[in-house]
Amino acid sequence: MAWTHRHLLGIAELSREDILDVLDGAERWFDMKRVDARVLHGRTIVNVFFESSTRTRTSFEVAGKRLGADVVNIALQTSSVTKGETLLDTVRNLEALRADALVLRHAASGAPHFVASSTRTSIVNAGDGAHEHPTQALLDAFTIRRRKGGLEGLVVTICGDVLHSRVARSNALLLGALGAEVRLCAPRTLMPRQPEALGPTVRAFEKIEPALEGADVVMMLRIQTERLAGATIASTREYARTFGLNTRVLAYAKPDAIVMHPGPINRGVEIDPRVADGRQSVILDQVEAGVAVRMAVLERVIMAADAERARA
Ligand code: NCD
Repeated sequence: MAWTHRHLLGIAELSREDILDVLDGAERWFDMKRVDARVLHGRTIVNVFFESSTRTRTSFEVAGKRLGADVVNIALQTSSVTKGETLLDTVRNLEALRADALVLRHAASGAPHFVASSTRTSIVNAGDGAHEHPTQALLDAFTIRRRKGGLEGLVVTICGDVLHSRVARSNALLLGALGAEVRLCAPRTLMPRQPEALGPTVRAFEKIEPALEGADVVMMLRIQTERLAGATIASTREYARTFGLNTRVLAYAKPDAIVMHPGPINRGVEIDPRVADGRQSVILDQVEAGVAVRMAVLERVIMAADAERARA
């Protein structure tokens, strides 16, 4: 295992080799029909989620349990954060309980990086504000690689609320590192000011048709209403008409293009139900891949922390 990171904070911190190491590791877990591995037996993983989640939280829980770890879930609504405890104090207390890894989702960009610098426990970023969502990008790459054989030279169109999307950021970084061409498509109000800063292969589009022309992969994004400061789209109906993925615009992509979405999907807004449930959709494959990818990540960060302690 080439992996040496005690934390997984973002794709920005990973090399091409690190990314491939996780994908190959996930491949192994994915192919084992019934996993009875006890790689993390006796270990404790705490899911600390300060923002809503269905897929990511459950998937980390299943991943930890398949590896034999004890998994504890903490949700904002029931934690002492509602009594005024700071994030760092929460984390220090969980560390005192001898948790091996904390899987953290937080509305503030950089929150996991902040706590990682002052804890011995491994921190896995499960989404920080509009910044990064590394395990989502890894499971997306895993899904694409299984369907397309590799990522080198593929055209991947990411369309929607790019500005507020941690999924778009992590994917642009990862796909660029593995040699895919990344097209970002959004209304001007939902596009970052410098999209090219996300990677050398990134190009921005203001219309969906040219963005989809010849695409191998189409990734749709939900409008992050929880992160919108003011009105940035005229109306949901108008948005669906101009930036939604339906069978008409999907025809601009390659006939064998795959359709992805990190979920939760807003049917009839960014994606037409006929496309979401259609033969090109791999949305549920992404969810399935999530467990194997998170197993590979948890295994790696905890082993790296062990190795670091052994050296100290
Ligand atoms: C995404 C997230 O939370 O960033 N969902 C997920 O983790 N699968 C995308 C979203 O909420 O739109």
